[in-house]
Amino acid sequence: EKAGYDHFMLKEIHEQPKAYRDTMLGRISEDGRSVELPELKMTAEQLKGINRVHIVACGTALHAGLVGKNVIESLVRIPVETDVASEYRYRSPIITPDTLVIVVSQSGETADTLAALREAQRCGARVLAITNVVGSSVAREADDVIITLAGPEIAVASTKAYSSQLIAFFLLGLYWAQTVGRKDEAEVANVLAAMQALPEQVEKILAQSEVIKQVAESISHHSSLFFIGRGVDYAVAMEGSLKLKEISYIHSEAYAAGELKHGTLALIEEGTPVIALLTQEDLYEKMLSNIKETKARGADVLGIVNEGREEEVAKSVDRQFAIPRTLPLLTPALSVIPLQLLSYYASLALGHDVDKPRNLAKSVTVE
Ligand code: F6R
Repeated sequence: EKAGYDHFMLKEIHEQPKAYRDTMLGRISEDGRSVELPELKMTAEQLKGINRVHIVACGTALHAGLVGKNVIESLVRIPVETDVASEYRYRSPIITPDTLVIVVSQSGETADTLAALREAQRCGARVLAITNVVGSSVAREADDVIITLAGPEIAVASTKAYSSQLIAFFLLGLYWAQTVGRKDEAEVANVLAAMQALPEQVEKILAQSEVIKQVAESISHHSSLFFIGRGVDYAVAMEGSLKLKEISYIHSEAYAAGELKHGTLALIEEGTPVIALLTQEDLYEKMLSNIKETKARGADVLGIVNEGREEEVAKSVDRQFAIPRTLPLLTPALSVIPLQLLSYYASLALGHDVDKPRNLAKSVTVE
């Protein structure tokens, strides 16, 4: 049932092109110029009445929510807050009649997320769920549901469910932007065309897994490392760091690259591995200066860069991995792939149980 792969996690990493296609299927108009979400019960008028968003989830799903915040804020231009479900529930969240609460959950059974959903509804909010499991508690109780079509995810560490949640956020953001008239047809069509290229671009990344495997083997000897990025790269850095910790038990920290110098630079020593994400062209120069700060302390830097930048980046990093070009908004759907492979191969190199890491359950049904 692992279809020839050594582990479910590796199989699921490789299923991402299909998961992207399936999650987009039937949700893009035939002419490729608009998003259709017939599953939403919410009317266009109701959507137009939403002026703020809370995205609530746990773990990896919350990390997808951080990307979702970026997507909704940049496409729709309404304020989005993100919160840990177990915090949201107990902090008397400020929910106004024009607030939409979006909960994200692969399993749809996470107790903290379910409790946050119920609390939001109790306060009068409309709740939209992004989940991978039809008929799950979250899917049943939410007012609206967008199902990700990642297929069953067996490995405890989430990969294809996370990345399919990103696709769901792209679709929702575009649908919303077109509904409220924030983006015209040509702009929507442009993003949709880039989205439809993602599955093939993921294939291209997967074909270079060997490069990441080598980096993973070298980092597996270290006890601590850093993931840095700016903007949406910071959100992906957080997911990369969590994934590594979950299955390799190597300590790592994700840092907004500009924040390092405000605290933890001293933890970077000779040989400390730093994974630097550089997919956001407008933040590129700033990232290079942050990388320089780490290099000055002896960091061993792996840069995740956009194709075409390799030559220029070569003098600033020790090693690099190039991802195919896409729109800045969509890069997380590509840049997370090498990070998933990195944690997989690091765990493998250390001889851990990749699919069943210690102290982590596939669905956490206690609060
Ligand atoms: C798995 C992971 C966990 C889950 C979290 C939420 O890699 O990181 O943190 O993401 O327990 O699970 P769901 O999405 O099922 O609500």
